[in-house]
Amino acid sequence: MTDLVIPAIVNLDVTGPVINRHLYGHFAEHLGRCVYGGFYVGADSDLPNVDGIRLDVVEALRALNIPNLRWPGGCFADEYHWMDGIGPKGERPSMVNTHWGNVEENNHFGTHEFMALCELLGTEPYISGNIGSGTVKEMSDWVEYLTRDGDSPMVRLRKANGREEPWKIRYWGLGNEAWGCGGNMSAQQYAAEARRYGTYSRDHGDNKLYRIAAGASDADYAWTETLMKQLGDLGCAYRPQPFMQAVSFHYYTVPGPWQDKGDATVFDIDDYYRTMVKAAYVDELITGHSNVMDCYDSHKNVGLVLDEWGTWWNVEPGTNPGFLYQQNTLRDALVASVHFDIFHRHADRLVMANIAQTVNVLQAMILTDPDSKALVLTPTYHVFEMNKGHHDAASLRVDLPAGLPARETGSGTLSTVSLSASRKDAQVLFSLSNLDADQPVDVELDLRGGALADVRSRILTAGKLQDHNTPDAPASVAPRAHEQVTATVSGLRVHLPAHSFVTVEGRLA
Ligand code: AHR
Repeated sequence: MTDLVIPAIVNLDVTGPVINRHLYGHFAEHLGRCVYGGFYVGADSDLPNVDGIRLDVVEALRALNIPNLRWPGGCFADEYHWMDGIGPKGERPSMVNTHWGNVEENNHFGTHEFMALCELLGTEPYISGNIGSGTVKEMSDWVEYLTRDGDSPMVRLRKANGREEPWKIRYWGLGNEAWGCGGNMSAQQYAAEARRYGTYSRDHGDNKLYRIAAGASDADYAWTETLMKQLGDLGCAYRPQPFMQAVSFHYYTVPGPWQDKGDATVFDIDDYYRTMVKAAYVDELITGHSNVMDCYDSHKNVGLVLDEWGTWWNVEPGTNPGFLYQQNTLRDALVASVHFDIFHRHADRLVMANIAQTVNVLQAMILTDPDSKALVLTPTYHVFEMNKGHHDAASLRVDLPAGLPARETGSGTLSTVSLSASRKDAQVLFSLSNLDADQPVDVELDLRGGALADVRSRILTAGKLQDHNTPDAPASVAPRAHEQVTATVSGLRVHLPAHSFVTVEGRLA
């Protein structure tokens, strides 16, 4: 045990906003080897699959209880024409994926394959419609095809393609990054388009869409304000609008300049701290967008959605620059754990977040080897798994003293201890991160309003921040039981080694 002890007060009987499970959402774009080679290998593959969907990937993701999967993009969404991806595979037209590697897309993974994937994963679909290069009719028809019951032109087409029953779809994206790859629009232009496309994305029968407007990049609060103005200045008299229920924004952790983002596995201590400062910055961004939304929607009826987040490094040497394939180290895991603590604190407004992306792209959960077909779970995967007890749990406020340990870095001050807590019925879960590269710390949890029984703890750490998992060493960074949690008079003392992520679970006695 060390001398540095941080007290933290947690009232177990005073619960805050519920942590929406959709904060643990995912994202699968037609990009590199995310869909093709990641989720989907085709029915002829020698890998175990169901109609081409890779079963080892499904099994690994089922263990995360992933709440939703966003598809088909990203930038790809605004050049995707869904009708090209239905019907017999041999008859589906091809296209060029101009955003990602200029490769040919054969449309073998389309609407039916995506919905089958969601069913296998036990997850909710989040479909991003095409505003950039699609028509209002195209989007309207897609919703009808997916969700309408009874008889109609699109229902007949769906049935002809083998699906009798409509699917249930809640999350519906109105384009993506409209300020850039989604059409290079101004906020005013996009707001008008979103209103139109959102209007004709109809609720069929009892299927109620939750329409998510494509939002800002980073700190573009003016974009959010322009979208919120669409609701009218209703203040307390907020009434739900039929065209938009949520506003999104995107933020990636990119510590280096865009042209040279840095290497995923080769980095020094300055790079590490710069990364963590950038990761923690998401707190300021969520606060900023929430503040703007509060001006127009003080009752927080409109959701804020961060539907792309995560680290973005230079691609692995020798891989296609358009495929965004990167390794994933303990540093990435700590970026994820810090994001989740921040998300939990903003559970009153932030209703969904989607890491980019689930397999083989950017900050992935799973990396598949194109040659051996081996599958590796990344350190980030383990953070999602260790934190899944927070899904739909009530947040618990954690009060920390002023003057927390911090590191002065070239790009700002970093608080090196991060934690959050939640309670679901009698189950309590704490997540604690020590971001300091060298110094261990103890956190003394002063638990009020109850006591915990059956306490169990796990730790994710490694010898070096650069450690990562490969097919030859798949468990270099993997969770293990953590023994250094001791009972105190008022709660628990948790030892956090340098650069570690720890969860502590217990049952209210
Ligand atoms: O996730 C990769 C890309 O990042 C997405 O396609 C786009 O929306 C963002 O710029």
